[in-house]
Amino acid sequence: MQIAIVADAAAVAEYAAERIAGVIRARAESAAPAVLGVATGSSPLGTYAVLAARVRAGQLDVTGVSAFALDEYVGLDPAHPESYRSVIRRTVTEPLGLDPERVHVPDGAAADLEAACARYERLIREAGGVDLQLLGVGANGHIGFNEPTSSFASRTRVKTLAPQTRADNARFFDAPDSVPVHCVTQGLGTILEARQLLLVAQGEGKAEAVAQMIEGPLASVCPASALQLHPDAVVVIDQAAASQLRFSDYYEYVQDQLPEGSA
Ligand code: F6R
Repeated sequence: MQIAIVADAAAVAEYAAERIAGVIRARAESAAPAVLGVATGSSPLGTYAVLAARVRAGQLDVTGVSAFALDEYVGLDPAHPESYRSVIRRTVTEPLGLDPERVHVPDGAAADLEAACARYERLIREAGGVDLQLLGVGANGHIGFNEPTSSFASRTRVKTLAPQTRADNARFFDAPDSVPVHCVTQGLGTILEARQLLLVAQGEGKAEAVAQMIEGPLASVCPASALQLHPDAVVVIDQAAASQLRFSDYYEYVQDQLPEGSA
């Protein structure tokens, strides 16, 4: 796992956007446009804003790029402003100018959710898999909506949101009870198949989850610890999110001594 501790939230966004832009450019050269995995929530918003600014400035060409979202609420009208379909359109598809036909979100409104989950897995496979999956982490250590005790082998499926996650996400709804109870999420096994993982976290509220993810045991009670299994996982955090790490001096030392050619 590569750990980059940077000064603040703005530096997290710059660092992450640079990695994503690198993948988009590399794939464009290979003539097969990049397949990105995108997250909702607050953590990646700065990264999307930096990418959108680069597209507007003509510094980044996203022609042909496709995207797969991690998750969606179950039982929320897809047109609801807080459905992840709406959030991804507002924060990713429109600002970056992606082709909406190439942006996919799990279908949380399907009559047959199991079939919709299987279809989503198939769509990712047919796209050639995800090149880079951008992730945030929940205060309880979830990634996607894989709540504590999710299997490391799990695939896209219906999950029950933890009470803490519903409380954390209540800020997006008019009342805490309006937060849906169920969701559809890519599984940890699905996420681990992305060729690169890039997790961003900012602020004190994430410090404990970040410490468990990086330095805790590999354990399904901290689903984000699954990143320890991935051969190309990068974690980009600000000083506050790094504040409970025991070995931050070591990570900073490694970051300063990166071998030539590695970013
Ligand atoms: C969102 C997602 C979640 C969030 C996590 C952190 O698609 O999958 O895992 O990344 O809940 O949320 P924020 O960034 O709002 O703190």
